[in-house]
Amino acid sequence: MSPQNVYILGIESSCDDTSASVLCNDKVLSNVVASQEIHQKYGGVVPELASRAHQQNIVPVIDQAIKQAGIDTSNLSAIAFTRGPGLMGSLLVGTSFAKSLALALDIPLIDVHHMQAHILAHFIQDEEQKKPEFPFLALTISGGHTQIVQVNDYFDMQIIGETIDDAVGEAFDKSAKILGLPYPGGPLIDKYAKSGNPKAFPFTKPRVDGLNFSFSGLKTGILYFIQKQVKENPDFIKENLADICASIQYTIITILIDKLKKATKQTGIKSIAIGGGVSANSGIRKALKDGEQKYGWKTYVPKFEYTTDNAAMIGIVGYLKHLRKDFTEMNVVAKARIKF
Ligand code: KG4
Ligand code: ZN
Repeated sequence: MSPQNVYILGIESSCDDTSASVLCNDKVLSNVVASQEIHQKYGGVVPELASRAHQQNIVPVIDQAIKQAGIDTSNLSAIAFTRGPGLMGSLLVGTSFAKSLALALDIPLIDVHHMQAHILAHFIQDEEQKKPEFPFLALTISGGHTQIVQVNDYFDMQIIGETIDDAVGEAFDKSAKILGLPYPGGPLIDKYAKSGNPKAFPFTKPRVDGLNFSFSGLKTGILYFIQKQVKENPDFIKENLADICASIQYTIITILIDKLKKATKQTGIKSIAIGGGVSANSGIRKALKDGEQKYGWKTYVPKFEYTTDNAAMIGIVGYLKHLRKDFTEMNVVAKARIKF
């Protein structure tokens, strides 16, 4: 264990995944994620149940991350944790644990902004992913967020567009719910869309100024459309599932790509990095690749395990802040809403 090496323990507990990761500099040694299945039967994340599950999971998850990394807690240089944004009860579990452990080990504490972490996950050293060069645009799309961020440097970022209502993952999940699919329905829409016609059912796209997004109208449009069709044919969903899913996915992707086109024009920046759970969607991945040829974009898609909520992305921010000696006071508090 070289003394120049920095070992960071990252802790993520902002929503419904309890995760811990150990990094040696910018390399991931372990990345353990305990996803909470309990929410499936409620069709969405129940905050009270999420914080209870974090309480149960946090000790075994951290223990496993340390063991898998092959280190001892005495080797740790600092502890990085998600301060926000997220669900308050969930954030408190990770924050309190991080503070206690940093105090016990007498090492620095580093607070991390969850959305910055989704973006900086691109800087994890990994053979399978290339790092973007500054400046670039980051499109962060998940169940809780939808943003376009202009990234000038590691800690110089500006949100230039975001959703004014639902997040894009919610649009997928709520549409899936209308079709009677289980939560989270995003991956299922992706799966069924593969064998469907994306132009079978044209859904109305929202008109939102600038680079902002809106997805709540789309969801209502889909609901009314399905209700009307089912009245005429009770088997409509079953008979047209692939076409409906393909059409929903096509509409959502078109909304995202149109805004990216606008953002690249407005900023003159043609490098685009995506992050967040929805970046697993095969349609958006393909549309971005197509953009390389069509619009001269350079696109960056992180490895799947670093794109959904995970602690390795918290660890990389921890490492970058450690290089800058950007540490946090012990009286830091979790924040449900927090700016960059
Ligand atoms: O980043 P994430 O794991 O958690 C947060 O919400 O922060 O993202 C989860 C979201 C869910 O809405 C899920 O339906 C969506 O990502 N998702 C997908 C796909 N895989 C995950 N949506 C569309 N297509 C997918 N393949
Ligand atoms: Zn997230």
